[in-house]
Amino acid sequence: MSPEEWAAFLEVHKGLPRQGPGLPDDVAWAVDAIGLSGAVDVFDAACGPGADTMTLARLLPEARITAVDTTLSFVEQAQAQLADDADRVSVRCDDMASPDGSYDLIWCAGALYFLGVTEGLRGWRRALRPGGHVVFSEPVLLDPAPSAEVIAFWSDYPHITDLSGIEARVTAAGFQTHAHRMIVGAPWEAYYKPMQARIDLLRQSDPDPQVARALDENQLEIDRWRAARDQIAYALLIVSPQ
Ligand SMILES: C[S@@+](CC[C@H](N)C(=O)[O-])C[C@H]1O[C@@H](n2cnc3c(N)ncnc32)[C@H](O)[C@@H]1O
Repeated sequence: MSPEEWAAFLEVHKGLPRQGPGLPDDVAWAVDAIGLSGAVDVFDAACGPGADTMTLARLLPEARITAVDTTLSFVEQAQAQLADDADRVSVRCDDMASPDGSYDLIWCAGALYFLGVTEGLRGWRRALRPGGHVVFSEPVLLDPAPSAEVIAFWSDYPHITDLSGIEARVTAAGFQTHAHRMIVGAPWEAYYKPMQARIDLLRQSDPDPQVARALDENQLEIDRWRAARDQIAYALLIVSPQ
């Protein structure tokens, strides 16, 4: 992406409550399944504007949370939203690949594919305390023969595979999978509904050609999701070192 395309992308994505699919209930499911509580240390890898960081802070009121993202505008949005918890929640602009510190939970919603599942987990191993877990969401195919709509939706992500394919990448990193659940429907609505409102608003403001192109691209993504919304999924996996 050129700097101009990136600026237009950010203009479309500005102020959205989250930058990928997910709901507070997904975070609660994982925290509950792991049995996490008390004064634990949590790393939110690629926190975006901080929607899940806020949920983690609410579910784990004694936890110390470090959240990082490489996109400054998202980091600033997350910092503003978490200002009241600044004594125990730190949000900064940083690469998620090599967290400093040791953590009981590394949470990563919709971003591990930037590192690669196997490569990313290998890199995080040394940042996990004994008994620690990684929870991440990753694009997944639900059907061995995906429809043309599903193929079109994932055309920019050639590494997409099914659940067993993701589990194989987890195993290759020396991790084991404890549980998973599928992120389908409502968690995607939570991402795309505010984006649709933002697109509609920007369309009314006579956007410059670069922003207009970004609006078209994001609208196409939403339209493709709507065409196959019950088949477009992330898998949310709870994993730990073997
Ligand atoms: C699909 S968004 C998900 C954001 C957030 N987890 C959420 O659900 O709202 C992916 C995020 O990954 C961030 N990102 C990409 N590569 C990164 C890296 N190496 N380190 C930290 N953040 C990264 C992007 O800036 C973006 O905010």
